[in-house]
Amino acid sequence: MIDVNVLRNEFLNRFGRNGVAYVAPGRINLIGEHTDYNGGFVFPGAVEQSISAIISPNGSDKVNAYAFDLRLADSFRINDSQGPEAVHLRYVYGVVREMAAAGVAVGGFDVVYGGDVPLGAGMSSSAALECCFAYALNDIFGDGRLDRMALAKIGQATEHKYVGVMCGIMDQFASMHGREGSLMRLDCRNGEFEYFPWNPADYRLVLVNSCVKHELVGSPYNDRRRSCERVAAMAGVETLRDCTWQQLEELRPRLSDEDYRRARYVLGEKDRVLAVCDALQNDDYETVGKKMYMTHEGLAKDYEVSCEEIDFLVGEARRLGVTGCRIMGGGFGGCTINLVKESLYDNFVAEVEKSYKIRFGVDCQIIPVVIGDGARRL
Ligand code: GLA
Repeated sequence: MIDVNVLRNEFLNRFGRNGVAYVAPGRINLIGEHTDYNGGFVFPGAVEQSISAIISPNGSDKVNAYAFDLRLADSFRINDSQGPEAVHLRYVYGVVREMAAAGVAVGGFDVVYGGDVPLGAGMSSSAALECCFAYALNDIFGDGRLDRMALAKIGQATEHKYVGVMCGIMDQFASMHGREGSLMRLDCRNGEFEYFPWNPADYRLVLVNSCVKHELVGSPYNDRRRSCERVAAMAGVETLRDCTWQQLEELRPRLSDEDYRRARYVLGEKDRVLAVCDALQNDDYETVGKKMYMTHEGLAKDYEVSCEEIDFLVGEARRLGVTGCRIMGGGFGGCTINLVKESLYDNFVAEVEKSYKIRFGVDCQIIPVVIGDGARRL
């Protein structure tokens, strides 16, 4: 988490008064990738990296925002039907509009915001931003009326309607519901979830950021989703969650090879998340790790959301004895998530840093995972 006092001071200097501080985190996901919009299971946890905002109402109909990391000041009127063009402000505008549509009388406000969730790393910086604003505006203008799931859905709707990414609910859910030291299993079909304390004695989770920036806006992410929806429609089910292996095989002659492989990945991932839950009950981290590698295989070959740099990092993880490794998040770059035995950790980190630099001429970034709390007022 960045030093919120820096943001507080910036707010005071810019607006001549104090504001209230809010924070919402990014997330990791142990397993269950691209399953959320298919009604399946996901297994995320909130992380320490987060977005913070200092906010204070200003009694006008205007939002005056300063994006600290970008050093950009900008304004928009709440009732402007077009909204701002700057991408970073579209998230804020979208949340404001969606909150208003949900019945919260959002008025004008001044805000300074910033954070330390790496952008384009698959750690959900955009969900952290949406959730930080949704939580804050609900607190300031809505008396905390909307519950966390409703706020998560406001973040998701912002992506859909104002940014153009047809994402599922995982990222916003995790940012809203995170709990220190626990992962969560969410059933995306009915919204039920459970906390799973995460404290394996001999293993650590670490992200390796390839620093290949993934970009989901206007990306093949939406194409993947459409493939899944086509197959579900042909199978006569609402989402692939309800499609059986037998149904998929029966449909196969009528599906494009691409749609078939997308669906095959999703059905496999659904099974893997449940297998991982069973393995965790027995502290069987070797099985968890095997499933992670299998997920990567599926994401790389069937779902085709990996890239050369990430495949290299997964190969290196295998070579260095890492228990489980896969691409994390939407894909097309970003981070791998690695489940590493304590005894191999230091060697893994040193070796992967070295070999990545030799192979691609750039540094990868090592990000130890610390599971933190969800959105809150500071
Ligand atoms: C992105 C989306 C999520 C989810 C993941 C893939 O992070 O925002 O909803 O679909 O990709 O699991």
